[in-house]
Amino acid sequence: MQLDQVKAVITGGASGLGHAVAQHLVAHGAKVALFDVNEEKGQAAAASLGEAARFYRTDVTSEDGVSANVSAARDAMGGLNVVINCAGILGAGRVLGKEGPMALGTFATTVMVNLVGSFNVAKAGAALMQGNEAGEDGERGVIINTASVAAYEGQIGQAAYSASKGGVVGMTLPMARELSRFGIRVATIAPGIFWTPMVDSMPPAVQESLGASIPFPSRLGKPEEFATTAAFILTNRYINGETIRLDGGVRLQPK
Ligand SMILES: NC(=O)c1ccc[n+]([C@@H]2O[C@H](COP(=O)([O-])OP(=O)(O)OC[C@H]3O[C@@H](n4cnc5c(N)ncnc54)[C@H](O)[C@@H]3O)[C@@H](O)[C@H]2O)c1
Repeated sequence: MQLDQVKAVITGGASGLGHAVAQHLVAHGAKVALFDVNEEKGQAAAASLGEAARFYRTDVTSEDGVSANVSAARDAMGGLNVVINCAGILGAGRVLGKEGPMALGTFATTVMVNLVGSFNVAKAGAALMQGNEAGEDGERGVIINTASVAAYEGQIGQAAYSASKGGVVGMTLPMARELSRFGIRVATIAPGIFWTPMVDSMPPAVQESLGASIPFPSRLGKPEEFATTAAFILTNRYINGETIRLDGGVRLQPK
């Protein structure tokens, strides 16, 4: 798929990696619909991107809300052929913390946003994309999810987050297999540690040790590097059913 043909729903598009993808795609002629719970940042992000971008206040965990907004975005963009799931929360916390065992609600909310939310937007997008006119090789759409290297080597305090991201990795292949009959590809990016507001909120000592732990280049990832990976997946039709680590060779330590 050529980037100037892309009409994409991007969740988490108000911030960080999702916003970087939106910037990259719009710069290459695409239209984007930013889905986010943060109304203020979302409106500002869409305004900064100009006419090719719209903002839809959307909670990815709402089945009705997502379904309605995906349809509205499709109508406004004159089509929909890409879904990029970047909305996510950290959900950090120990199983047995100082205050006692982790509240079940913390675990459930993390899985709900990161995993169930990604599925929710993917299926709503696929339901519309299956009706697209087939392009080259019969392609009708692309779904890109965002996991994390914590799906493979989660640290202490990441039980909920790692479980949610492991689920994202796990659903990638069966979803790609199933949707292949519609010409819809599914791929996932598993980022290492990137400079985004999510990381900004961590204590400086944690940020420094994170950067030092990355073999090469020994720094945090740039959101543009995530965006160009998403663009590579969109334009390379032979990528399907796979999770790509994007991490400078890092393997997270237990803590
Ligand atoms: N930054 C990193 O180092 C890193 C590493 C690995 C994976 N990731 C993943 O990349 C994705 C993007 O992370 P980021 O660093 O850009 O974070 P971020 O906090 O900058 O952006 C996440 C966005 O998701 C939105 N969001 C949260 N809950 C939502 C919901 N229920 N519905 C809709 N929107 C919601 C937030 O408002 C925010 O704008 C996340 O899935 C994150 O887990 C990030």
